[in-house]
Amino acid sequence: MENKHVELTGKILSLKKTRGAVILAHNYQLGEVQDIADFVGDSLGLSQNAAKTDAEVIVFCGVHFMAETASILCPDKIVLLPDINAGCPMADMVTADKLRERKKELSNATVVCYVNSSAEVKAESDICCTSANALKVIESLDANEILFVPDQYLGNYISTKTNKKMILWPGYCPTHARILPQEITRLKQEYPKAKIIVHPECRPEVIALADEALSTSGMIKFAQKTEAKEIVVGTEIGIIYRLKKENPGKEFIPASEQAVCPNMKRITLEKILWSLEEMSPEVKVPEEIRLKAKLAVDKMLEIGRAD
Ligand code: 13P
Ligand code: SF4
Repeated sequence: MENKHVELTGKILSLKKTRGAVILAHNYQLGEVQDIADFVGDSLGLSQNAAKTDAEVIVFCGVHFMAETASILCPDKIVLLPDINAGCPMADMVTADKLRERKKELSNATVVCYVNSSAEVKAESDICCTSANALKVIESLDANEILFVPDQYLGNYISTKTNKKMILWPGYCPTHARILPQEITRLKQEYPKAKIIVHPECRPEVIALADEALSTSGMIKFAQKTEAKEIVVGTEIGIIYRLKKENPGKEFIPASEQAVCPNMKRITLEKILWSLEEMSPEVKVPEEIRLKAKLAVDKMLEIGRAD
């Protein structure tokens, strides 16, 4: 570890104790941020951890919708997002106003929102899902027509696995859209024995070339279990740090070096320390929205994970 990191890590860990804080980090976070976290996981794992922690303060190392989900679940805790500008462009592709308009046109549809969405959008939805349980959530519903927001690629992937009618919102993740099928085809030739795992936010043509489409924590589990020694990973490249750390005997090849989420990379050790010093920036969902959004998030948590 770099000297600068050692010093910052020491200060963060000591202040964390004083504040009674827990540090939660997404699998895409910088390596040095993952290393200081109490828990590193995918969106579902992070929500489950936020729901059960008894810490008074949650330092959320991820993007805004993730911190909002923690605030929805833990209204009495202080939820800090070390860089308030760490957003998710895909989450911003659906607004509550636009969703209300669409719901009027589709009055029979049940609204399923990907957790990558604002609290206002969750408040307008019947149930939430993540990449770890989207199909399980949809199959659990007593409804045949689903309006799925905002990720058209995850929605399309689920539509290939269910008989329900899926109406897709035209959102997508700009980071995953950078992973192209030509790159997967080239890597298959270069590493003929490799297993190909991709995130369901990838383009359908990319998913079609993969062995598995998995959530980020699904990928972590897959890497531990597989006999394969080479694994091509089609998602944000921050996950490679954890995959290598936990599986030193295996080789992980990013499907694209371009798959970097600039928002995830906004969280640094310096900003984590500042946020604990200042107890800011705080993410707090207004109570009226929180109560409605919580219904959708709680229903998802009851279903749990599928991968
Ligand atoms: P996971 O829930 O699979 O970690 O994915 C979150 C995300 O933002 C993917 O881009
Ligand atoms: Fe949003 Fe994509 Fe970044 Fe995930 S990787 S937080 S979906 S922009």
